[in-house]
Formats: sequence, structure tokens, C-alpha cells
Amino acid sequence: MADPLADRDALDSTLEFAANEARRYVEALSGDPVSLDGSEAIIEGWSDPMPEAGDGSLAALRELAARGRETAMRSSGPRFFHFVTGGGTPAAIGADWLTSAYDQAAYAWASSPFAARLEQVAIDWLRQLFELPAAFGGVLTTGATMANFVALAAARNWWGERLGVDVEQEGIASLSGPLIASSGYLHPSAVQAIGMLGLGQGNIRRLVRDRVGRFDVERLDRELTLHGEPAIVIANAGEVNSGDFDPIEAIADVVERHHAWLHVDGAFGLFARLAPEARRLTAGIERADSVIADGHKWLNVPYDCGFAFVRQHGRLSRALNVGAPYLPTAEDLHPNFGFIAPENSRRARALAVWATLRAYGRVGYSQMVQRHLALAQHLADRVDAAPDLERLADVPLNIVCFRARPPGTSEEGLDELNQRLGEAVRADGRVCVGTTTYGGRVALRPAIVNWQTEERDVDLLVDVVRELITTRVVE
Ligand SMILES: Cc1ncc(COP(=O)(O)O)c(C=O)c1O
Repeated sequence: MADPLADRDALDSTLEFAANEARRYVEALSGDPVSLDGSEAIIEGWSDPMPEAGDGSLAALRELAARGRETAMRSSGPRFFHFVTGGGTPAAIGADWLTSAYDQAAYAWASSPFAARLEQVAIDWLRQLFELPAAFGGVLTTGATMANFVALAAARNWWGERLGVDVEQEGIASLSGPLIASSGYLHPSAVQAIGMLGLGQGNIRRLVRDRVGRFDVERLDRELTLHGEPAIVIANAGEVNSGDFDPIEAIADVVERHHAWLHVDGAFGLFARLAPEARRLTAGIERADSVIADGHKWLNVPYDCGFAFVRQHGRLSRALNVGAPYLPTAEDLHPNFGFIAPENSRRARALAVWATLRAYGRVGYSQMVQRHLALAQHLADRVDAAPDLERLADVPLNIVCFRARPPGTSEEGLDELNQRLGEAVRADGRVCVGTTTYGGRVALRPAIVNWQTEERDVDLLVDVVRELITTRVVE
């Protein structure tokens, strides 16, 4: 097989094969272990010489599928509790397949009116879902890191403007970096975005009042008074170790008094707005200048998808848009999301967002989030009832931070023991959960965001952890 054109007749059988294979994979997710025995060794053993003459699409996909079936981490399944990783709802997966088939360039109206209009609708549906004010405009990104980047680019330009500098044109060299205040809950991706924007990671001040990093809001007031210049304040809606929130309303009061920019990272925590029992945690978010969240977390659309909202949405296009004679101009009133995104070449992520919201609506998402919050409480109850486990944090949302503490074990050995436990869980493969350091102590931090997760999955997590404590960790 040489020229792909000669493979055109295989399209039907290849796509049918892919659909069947994908269906089998997704259907099996609820029963499969998260990682299959020996998969890493298999992967390491692959040798892949660059093919001189190819085998054609069906043979290639057959081999790919055999490898995927044997080694793919079932991270989109219900027992992957590591990071904060969602799966793909049926509607989102189906729409994602069509996204590849349609292969729209979601740059501008001129390249795809279909993708442009659906992104406009999807962004507005998301805004409505999270009950953000109508003034907010937004854009889809690859994830929360780039959503933070886009929103903080708008903040950077606002900051330059307040100091009389057009940073897009002049850069920031004439300015000394802004004060960027946050708590210990600040996610590394926001730090990364600040670095990429040239704002200086060293200008971040973490105003913390305790060992776990809670926001010292009184100190924020003092720091902003002392600093005296426009500042950027980042509030965190959902901290990755415990799901805790910065006190957004109190922060918004201080920010307003000092005319600072308030950015809220709600990568997964923004979804607390959908559950009556957790909504109060998000109070004040509607007063922010920018808010971001992820799609591939709690929205359960396939990787990659995030979104950024900015209140003064005109700032979005001013922050990143650079024209060229062959491109549409800013005067074009059609939606042109490539103007406000960091990349010009963009996948039509809106299709999966649109389809999943169309399929399940506000009610469906609210029910799913509430189910996950109830599962997190169930997990916390099981941890509290287990004599060899110790919960390290309250459970305001969907993450339960705990560690093994077998009776009679001294405090000194616990970090090492929990590190070994994390490795044992990973090697076991039935469930996946990550380790972290919380308040200076090594802990596990399962997060529940997958649309398929049920009580039996959470119970298996506890059973596996406790089994491994006795069989693998305690000598
Ligand atoms: C609070 C928070 N912000 C940002 C991110 C970065 O998200 P992404 O990996 O989608 O870029 C994460 C990821 O876990 C997160 O939890």
C-alpha cells in the first residue's frame, strides 16, 4: 500500500472496525481493571521501525486496537480516581468521533460556520449552566492550563493598560511585574500560565494562614494596600487534594475595594454550582473578572477540552489576536474563536460540548454531580469506619483525602508507608488513585468525576486499599 488514495475503498471497513472496537472498549470499562497486568513491560518492549511500505488502514487499525486493548490505561472508566479525570459520556464520545470525521477548522466563520456557531452556542450554554452573568464571553481551549493562560492574558493586558502600557505591542519590560496574590491552593497550571505570559512566577505571593494553604484574606487586604498598584488575585474553586474552596465572596470584597482583577480557577470546582448542597462554596464567582474550568474533567467530554470566561469579553480578542491580510478581520461580526484562542488551528471541541449538554441538560448534570458528592460522602464514611485508615480533610466536594494508619504504627513511618501503599495500588491495577502531600503528610486523594462511577467502584477502592495495607505494606 502506498498512496492513501488507493485505500479509499477500505474506508467503510476501517471505520466500522474502529466503531466496533471503540464500542467494545467503552462497554468493558465498567468491568475492566484500570491497568492491565504487565502492560508497561509490553509497551516498553515495542520496537517500531518506520514503515517503508504501509499495510493499509485496516491492518494498521487492527494492530493499534490490539495494542490498545492490551495496554491502554482505563482512565476513562469508573475506577480511575487519580488526578481529576472524567470519561466521555455516550453523547460526547459519539460527537467526538463525528468531530474527526467532519474535521472542521474551528478557527473562524470563514473556515467553518458550523463549528463557529456551535462554539458560540456551547459557550453560552456553559455560561448559563454555571449561572455566570450574561456579560461574560468565552472560548474553548485544550484544558484548564490554556484556559488559565487565556484568562490571565486578558488580566495581563488590563494590568498593563492601567499602568499606561500596551503590553501586546510594547511587552512588559518597562514594567516591574504585577503582584499576583493567591493561596496555597493555587494549581501548578496557573503558575505555568503566568510563566508563559511573562508575568514572572516569582511575582506570585501565596498568602496562607495554615499548613494546608488556606487563603489569608486579611493579609490580602494589607498586601494590596501596601502594593498600591493594579494587582491580579487568583481564587481557587476546588483544590486538588481536598476539593476545598478559597472564600471567593470575601476575596471579591477585598478585590473590589482595591480595584484588582479577580480570576477564579474552577477547573472542576465550578461544577459545585450544579449541586444545591455545594453551591454556596461558589458564592462570589459571579463577581469575578475571569473564570475558567475544564471540559475533560466533570463535563465528561473526551480529552482535550477546557473553557475560559472573561467578563469584559472584548478583552479576549484584544489579548491574543494578530491579523494578516488573508485572515478575516476584527470587523467581521461572525463568531471567530480563533481570534481569542491561543492557537489558530483548533479542533471543533464545541461538538462534544454541545452534544453532551443537548443530551443530558442542566438536570442531568446536576444529578450526576449530586451523585458524585454523595459517593464522596460514602467514601468518607467508609474511611472513618476503617480502623486502619485516617481521613485528613473535610469533604466539601468530590475528593477524599486520607491515609493508611494501621493501629500501632508510629507517626514517623507513616509517610513512607503511604508512599509504598500508593505504589502497591498502582501495581495492583484494579483501581487507580494518586498520592499527594497534604499538610505535610503523604496521603491518597481519590477524586470522583467519572459519569460511570457507582457505589461499588468506591467500595472496591476502599477494599483494595485495605487489602494491600495488610498484604503488601505492613511487614
Ligand atoms: C484546579 C485546577 N486547575 C487547573 C488544572 C489544569 O488542567 P488541565 O490539565 O486540563 O490543563 C487542574 C488539573 O487537574 C486543576 O485541578
